[in-house]
Amino acid sequence: MSVRDSTQGYSATQIMLHWTVALLVAFQFFLNQGIGDAFRAVMSGEEPTADAVDAANIHVTMGLLILMLALWRIGLRLTLGAPPAPTTSSSCCCSLWLFSTLPARWCSTSSSARTS
Ligand code: HEM
Repeated sequence: MSVRDSTQGYSATQIMLHWTVALLVAFQFFLNQGIGDAFRAVMSGEEPTADAVDAANIHVTMGLLILMLALWRIGLRLTLGAPPAPTTSSSCCCSLWLFSTLPARWCSTSSSARTS
């Protein structure tokens, strides 16, 4: 059996997992109205609509699927390794913006929209 050389890049499975999780996380970020409606209905003692319950079930299932895929990805990372990090800083800045600046801005605008 040949051992994969991680300096050649990520494996096809790692790449597939990366983009699948990216798509699912984007889905969760942009399609969460239903679970929000269901959550607010339950918290105020009302019966959520059937559509909101369906949307909530999809949101939770997607979230758990993301968790399982992330654990699989960590397992592959530990067994297959990863190629060396790029020396340029552009991908680093892009990731920083995407995963820290953007959510922080989004949270502050969505919470101010809710209170207004
Ligand atoms: C990576 C996975 C997930 C992502 C990216 C995600 C993302 C989001 C986002 C962006 C919202 C809207 C928040 C807001 O408007 O304030 C939301 C709401 C919610 N999510 Fe998730 N979610 C994930 C997984 C889950 C899981 C696994 C559960 C439950 C076990 C869950 C339960 C909820 C609930 C109850 C709300 C409504 C909260 C509210 O409106 O105050 N989420 N989610």
